[in-house]
Amino acid sequence: EQIMKGGYSHFMIKEIHEQPDALIETMRGRILLQTARRGSLSSLKEVDRSSESLRVLDSVRDLSLDSIRALGSGMSSDFDQAPCIKLGGLEDYVDNIMRSRRLIFIACGTSYHACLAARQLVEELTCVPVTLELASDLLDRQAPLFRDDTCVFVSQSGETADTLNALKYAKHKGALCLGITNTVGSSISRETDCGVHVNAGVEIGVASTKAYTCQILVIVMIALKLSEDSISKMPRRQEILRDLLNLPSMMKKVLEKESLIKELAKELASENSLLAFGRGYNYATAMELALKVKELSYMHSEGILAGELKHGPLALIDETMPAVVVATRDSLREKMWSTIQQLLARKGRLVLLVSKDDDEIIGHFSGNKNVRLIEVDTVCDCLQPVLNIVPFQLLSYHLTILRGYNVDQPRNLAKSVTVE
Ligand code: G6P
Repeated sequence: EQIMKGGYSHFMIKEIHEQPDALIETMRGRILLQTARRGSLSSLKEVDRSSESLRVLDSVRDLSLDSIRALGSGMSSDFDQAPCIKLGGLEDYVDNIMRSRRLIFIACGTSYHACLAARQLVEELTCVPVTLELASDLLDRQAPLFRDDTCVFVSQSGETADTLNALKYAKHKGALCLGITNTVGSSISRETDCGVHVNAGVEIGVASTKAYTCQILVIVMIALKLSEDSISKMPRRQEILRDLLNLPSMMKKVLEKESLIKELAKELASENSLLAFGRGYNYATAMELALKVKELSYMHSEGILAGELKHGPLALIDETMPAVVVATRDSLREKMWSTIQQLLARKGRLVLLVSKDDDEIIGHFSGNKNVRLIEVDTVCDCLQPVLNIVPFQLLSYHLTILRGYNVDQPRNLAKSVTVE
């Protein structure tokens, strides 16, 4: 077991640190760069996917963080380098999926949070309505599903009973079923019509870490794939693709903050409760942070949509209540700034996750002993949750160690829940 931990004291911390490589493995062979004629959009559509003119990421020798970064920074904003996505298990189903009336993402636990993080982008790029379902709730309600729905089942293990039962139910209703799992040959991967393997590598720690960030990445790649024929979405797709390639190295920089996070964990270790606020893409970050903290450190924690602050949660805030606010730069940053002000007005003790180029917030709070800042790189909004969860994975890990609990096997929980 010590050998499997590769020098780390626990599987969880090993898997947290494996994330830059896991992201690369998840992208390997799936992002294609083609030298197209400038402005010649049709060349993208007509591209012969097996032709040698395609430079497949996989074919880059000694694929490393540096080569990925070089590819990322080399991509210009015009169409000289027209990128496309290759997802073997989906190629024949793209048209069917795009003709669906709805896309319904179905999952449990952390996998559900990955769907929550990526939902907005799928809506934006496909223009198909997207809903999310916790598998158990969909089954409890026997929710209506139709032949023109596409159901997307997301599961690290591919064996979670609720998700598998929801898959059987959806198949019975005639929906097209797509699987996203991290386990080749799993029940969900076998029983779905089509799918994408996550390729994050084996995950042993009960609390999911690298599978979560790589699941988000896979859903982003699926959204890019589904929208490949949309000329109007091309600049947005280009922007996302460029940042995708920079993501592993940015993730590495976040991991370098571990000692700062450890200090923060010391400050919070004896608390009874930790609230987490986020909205938009980062509502998922708040929810996943809270799940990690409660399932591992047994500290009460709640993820709250910042837009709901005034509808109840504000009553919890006083000088004894620690609250994390995810306020990295995106179109909702002004609203998150207002959330911060409201929490401060009630004397909340704040931990702020901010963009490192956000001089306004950083300048405002530097030297303030009651406010802790965690700074991360800014990346394309839809990819920011992939970076933003990392400090909180580290926080939940160190909180758990400091509180003296078993970080790889929390009480009462299993890695794969195969009973309803
Ligand atoms: C269990 C695990 C969680 C996981 C959830 C869903 O509760 O402890 O970490 O997120 O199952 O598992 P799945 O394998 O379907 O992603």
